[in-house]
Amino acid sequence: MKVGILTGGGDCAGLNAVMRAIALNLYQNEKNVEIVGFRDGYAGLIRGEAVPLRRADFEGILRAGGTILGTTRTPFKLMSVPEEGGATRLARMVAAYKKCGLDCLFTLGGAGTHKTAALLCAEGCNVIGLPKTIDNDIYGTDVTFGFQTAVDVATDALERVRTTSESHGRTMLVEIMGNKAGWLTLHAGIAGGADIILLPEIPFSVDKVCAAVTAGYAAGKRCNIIAVGEGAVVDSEAPFKKRERVFIRAERGETTVTQHLAEIIQERTGAETRATVLGYIQRGGEPCAYDRVLCTRLGSFAAQLCRRGRFGVTVAVVGGRITFNALPDIAGKYKFVDPNGEIVRAAEETGVFFGR
Ligand code: F6P
Repeated sequence: MKVGILTGGGDCAGLNAVMRAIALNLYQNEKNVEIVGFRDGYAGLIRGEAVPLRRADFEGILRAGGTILGTTRTPFKLMSVPEEGGATRLARMVAAYKKCGLDCLFTLGGAGTHKTAALLCAEGCNVIGLPKTIDNDIYGTDVTFGFQTAVDVATDALERVRTTSESHGRTMLVEIMGNKAGWLTLHAGIAGGADIILLPEIPFSVDKVCAAVTAGYAAGKRCNIIAVGEGAVVDSEAPFKKRERVFIRAERGETTVTQHLAEIIQERTGAETRATVLGYIQRGGEPCAYDRVLCTRLGSFAAQLCRRGRFGVTVAVVGGRITFNALPDIAGKYKFVDPNGEIVRAAEETGVFFGR
């Protein structure tokens, strides 16, 4: 059996742990296993450069952050556009897949990676996807690997920010990753005891947020901690598309939503206000114990699917069980926070303010 592996899109903790689980399962249960890796996501497959991997390459990487194969974002839009020489990137990938004589290609990635994986399937390649992203926004799975580690990192950051904010009596905005979906901000915000949580899915009123800050101090709070999702939107911006919002904000000379809101809060409430952007520390470093277990389950299951000849799918967690979805059913779809769902309500009913 000869299989290929690639990691696509933004990285996260747990990519190596998943590859290790795939490899160890195959080595343990198949007689002749050959594994090759494609560097830098689909870019390596487009270049047709298959790197032979040995058993030793998968040893000792359960805890290792990043990805031993490297990754890039390769825009889905460009996959079917003919390039110099006439061939599309898709055609070059299919040719590379065939030339390598692969029985299966494992693609570890987020929504974009899955869309391209579905294209490869439609061209007759045997593909099995694995759901990676700190954003937890892949449709059809309760959870993605890398998410819980990022939640732990952001939670720890919120707790640290609280002690310094209490010392100074400040209001602190903490920007948490998640451009489209607010899962990471929601979970870390709750776990880190944020007073206010602002998500892309729940447009917020600037007036109401300022009023909540003032009310917090009036009620005796030493500080206000606001967890802001990277893609959070002000209610007046909600009718506009993301691209239009970027344009409107640039026209007004605004930088990020977090920085802008921090300035307004300080101006209107008089509270000393600061903003912190957590950024890539949420993606880097070792996977937490939960993710190591999840990665092992997902990777091992993906290898089982391959051994059974079940392709054109992506592995998923549904109701706590590891299962799979057909790639065409989930490709291009996202999973968003339900503004009236159980988690938001639980937080709201315990005093967290969502700015609405
Ligand atoms: O998709 C994961 C993610 O970390 C998002 O939360 C974030 O908006 C984006 O990637 C950042 O992407 P890049 O690595 O291209 O800066």
